[in-house]
Amino acid sequence: MFASRIQQIKPFRVMQLLARAHALQRAGHDVVHLEVGEPDFPTAAPIVHACQQALADGLTAYTEARGLPALREAIAADYAHRLGVTLDPGRVQLTAGASGALMLLAALLLEPGDELLMTDPCYPCNSSFLSVVNALARAVPVTAAQSFQLDAVTAEAHWGQRTRGLLLASPANPTGTMLSEPALLDMLALVRRRDGLLIMDEIYQGLTYPQAGGRTADSVLRLADKDDPVYVVNSFSKYFGMTGWRLGWLVVPTAAVEPVERLAQNLFIAPSTLAQHAALAAFSPEALAEHEARRQAFQARRDQLLEGLLALGLRVPVVPDGAFYLYVDISALGMDAEDFCWRLLEEHQVAVTPGTDFGQHDAQRYVRFACTTSQARIAEALRRLGNALRDWA
Ligand SMILES: Cc1ncc(COP(=O)(O)O)c(C=O)c1O
Repeated sequence: MFASRIQQIKPFRVMQLLARAHALQRAGHDVVHLEVGEPDFPTAAPIVHACQQALADGLTAYTEARGLPALREAIAADYAHRLGVTLDPGRVQLTAGASGALMLLAALLLEPGDELLMTDPCYPCNSSFLSVVNALARAVPVTAAQSFQLDAVTAEAHWGQRTRGLLLASPANPTGTMLSEPALLDMLALVRRRDGLLIMDEIYQGLTYPQAGGRTADSVLRLADKDDPVYVVNSFSKYFGMTGWRLGWLVVPTAAVEPVERLAQNLFIAPSTLAQHAALAAFSPEALAEHEARRQAFQARRDQLLEGLLALGLRVPVVPDGAFYLYVDISALGMDAEDFCWRLLEEHQVAVTPGTDFGQHDAQRYVRFACTTSQARIAEALRRLGNALRDWA
């Protein structure tokens, strides 16, 4: 009755946990949520006011399929301002979140049976975008020693007959780790040599906490040429705190501008008009100051959570440079990640996400903790986790 590709599309394991967490809350329990993959801050006030103004002005018609010219220019100007990257706004395509951008790229670039290399672990929906066009994700296991990122040598070793390119994220979900500039340059050389393509998911761009000693590239656009086969996915969801507004963007090579617009026209007509008018205010000095304050808050939370987990004797093999996650190795406890998550929720009412949501390799060894709640709640989660570890010892 349904197309066979539906079999490939799996629900998140964390959804069952979340349903149970909500049931516990309804029964009067106080659940600490460290499983949520979105900022807990409401959208910044200037953005909300811009939306209210647009609504009052009756700006409710479709926009151009590529998005409002002023917004595409604002995005390009932001690359210049925050990243020092010169970008032609003509290469920017607004989308329904990074999700809409990934769907457009799958349709634009892949024939049935084609493969993209990605990391295991990675963002679980990646493979679903490919399934919809009957293409395949080839997940390459990456270890803590590799900072959970692919390097060009490993990628080349896994490059098969049907491999078209790579889909990578920096900073990544669930690990928060980034690709270094030399690693990105090697990747670029690989796709040029193989006549392949590189899709970089930079949705956590801006939410970075560079450590002393190595410069972390904020965008592959700093390194790639306008004609390189490099496709950048980004979004207003995370750094700009606009998850529910469903607005993101693509930066595509010059040759892809027209076909991606044609696809966007046909599949979506246009991105949300109100969200676009709102997003114009995301680059105002007031909003940028707010986003910077939030970045600092996420960094303080990450540091607090990291310190607390280490003090409890848990292993965090890689301290992430970005996003708002810690990928924690719980294998020393002698239980697998799903047991850990379920018991922590049932017995101590703390919700976290098992590694099994993000891949298969060593997945029962890892649990993702998200710093998407206040420092007071993180302190409470750590207190409860300490009790759990004492109970389970
Ligand atoms: C790595 C990554 N890519 C893409 C997305 C989709 O984001 P959105 O569609 O809200 O922009 C997410 C959401 O969590 C993500 O973590």
